[in-house]
Amino acid sequence: MGTSVIFKNTLIRKIFMSLTGLFIAFFLIIHLLGNFQLLLPYDQAHLQYNWYSHLLSHNIIIEIIAYVLYATLIIHILDALLITLENWKSNGKGLKVDKRGVNSSWFSRNMGILGVIILLFLILHFNDYWYAYKFGDIPVDEKGNKDIFLIVHESFKQGWYVAIYIIAFIALGFHLAHGVWSAFRTLGVYNKWYIKLTKYIGITFAILMSLGFAIIPAIIYLKNL
Ligand code: HEM
Repeated sequence: MGTSVIFKNTLIRKIFMSLTGLFIAFFLIIHLLGNFQLLLPYDQAHLQYNWYSHLLSHNIIIEIIAYVLYATLIIHILDALLITLENWKSNGKGLKVDKRGVNSSWFSRNMGILGVIILLFLILHFNDYWYAYKFGDIPVDEKGNKDIFLIVHESFKQGWYVAIYIIAFIALGFHLAHGVWSAFRTLGVYNKWYIKLTKYIGITFAILMSLGFAIIPAIIYLKNL
């Protein structure tokens, strides 16, 4: 394969990565706001969180968006794998040696490792919550809604579980700090000042998401000590 073909493919992949990444970032805002309901006073949180989950999974429009999200996640992950493999292959042939270490941050060079930590988290997350909610045999609350609150709440009483979540959210923070900025750049933000601005927006977003998600298991764990 010629260098230009590899370059073109890589560019198309990076555009896909950026668009899917930004869509996932948007989902994260909604998901975080929804999950903040877990921090309401216990009885209120219990019924409200279950009611909210029921609402989301019984609305046709939200269901369609959820399937778009699953497809987006899969494309983002496969694309990342292909880009990483291609980089390895071309490095091996001496085509494109990664010298960015000189002036780039650790996390920008390790998006793959951060991505793998997040992927492992997602496997656990989907298995324990998503699968349990959709296909598991879980109890219902007094209003007849599936009691996903109880499952989340019980899991956050365990220190090791909370630790895994917090490690994943730190990885997510670093991943977002580079990813959001990089996505804007790939999609055509070339102006020096805009690049700087999107860098700050990316880092602020990453810190807010990482901290926002992390305080949920941390507070529930501490409340139950
Ligand atoms: C404190 C943190 C979090 C809590 C308590 C939480 C809770 C949940 C629960 C209970 C579900 C399944 C039930 C439902 O669909 O309503 C779910 C689904 C999901 N979560 Fe999380 N989550 C957290 C963080 C995250 C993070 C950081 C990500 C992504 C990196 C994520 C990605 C997803 C995805 C993709 C789904 C499936 C969405 C859907 O089917 O509509 N979650 N989460």
